[in-house]
Amino acid sequence: MRVLGIETTCDETGVAIVEDGYRLLSNCVLSQVPLHERFGGVVPEIASRAHVEVITRLIERALNDAGCWENPDAAPDIDAIAVAHRPGLIGALLVGLSAAKSLSLAWGIPLIGVDHIQAHIYAAWMKSQEPFVPLPEIENAFPAIALVVSGGHTSLYRSDHWTSHRLIGTTQDDAVGEAFDKAAAILELEYPGGPAISREAEKGNRKAIRFPRTLLEPGSLDFSFSGIKTSVLYHVKGQDCRRDAPLREGISVPDVAASFETAVVDVLIEKLRRALGRENLNRAILGGGVAANRYLRSRLTELAEKEGLDIRFPDLALCTDNGAMIAGLGSMLLAAGEVQELSLDASSMASD
Ligand code: KG4
Ligand code: ZN
Repeated sequence: MRVLGIETTCDETGVAIVEDGYRLLSNCVLSQVPLHERFGGVVPEIASRAHVEVITRLIERALNDAGCWENPDAAPDIDAIAVAHRPGLIGALLVGLSAAKSLSLAWGIPLIGVDHIQAHIYAAWMKSQEPFVPLPEIENAFPAIALVVSGGHTSLYRSDHWTSHRLIGTTQDDAVGEAFDKAAAILELEYPGGPAISREAEKGNRKAIRFPRTLLEPGSLDFSFSGIKTSVLYHVKGQDCRRDAPLREGISVPDVAASFETAVVDVLIEKLRRALGRENLNRAILGGGVAANRYLRSRLTELAEKEGLDIRFPDLALCTDNGAMIAGLGSMLLAAGEVQELSLDASSMASD
């Protein structure tokens, strides 16, 4: 069973072909970072237009790389088209959705709508290169706590199945990736900020500055990252300073980056531990762009060893947005008969 997956929720155009839900035959991703970096964040209108420019060629490339379109005059050798139709930027989503619908109609194959967040969770079971590994039996993978940490989301779920996730905690303000991006902008580092902060942090002292760890009320599984962002701003530019003020003299960017990253990771780990405790589980799954963070991965590996937990995270290449996770989860939905009509709509909201 071969599924073509299309991802256009934000600023990456991703198209991939996945066989049997886990074997990547191709995985093409085009990042729009150079288009957005001078604005310090994603500009929705620019994102939609950039997807329109490249989507058709990228689909063609993914099919050719996978070796499943030998006769261009006939339909390719694929069984379905999966597309991320929620949540995301509406204009960007509509580009992928329109492409997917057209191909589904033209090639006479089913259309599958995939939730982008659920796909980030599914990515933890995929490998980005050989040897590819089939999915574990369901009873060996679930129930688990899933923590999705990205530029747009910071959410905890109780997961009972590849497609069944109940929201148990979420951010009240900024998403964690957004906090990395904003802290990087304050520190005058490049966009996107996550990798930039992480690189600086490796050279810094993690205990140099005690930034706040906002845990909210006792037992809460929600997050808040706006306080730490303001603390970083006031620390590096002075009390009540604006974001475009110059850095104070003597500020060590590596020390600020290391202290910021440590505070954020402390919060993520504490909330994950609370969720595991509350649901009485010992399995966790990480997903989303921030799951690529090396310090977070090493702290989670330490935690897993110390507390006998089973924590899995995606390969580095599958943490940030990509079409492979859409095709992978799309394969599970296809197997379950969950296909959609051509009237399928896009939504900025995640599934319930
Ligand atoms: O999942 P993703 O590609 O897009 C969304 O669905 O939002 O995540 C992008 C986010 C950005 O905020 C970026 O700064 C962050 O993931 N990110 C990182 C790292 N790599 C990407 N954050 C921390 N450390 C990293 N190594
Ligand atoms: Zn994402």
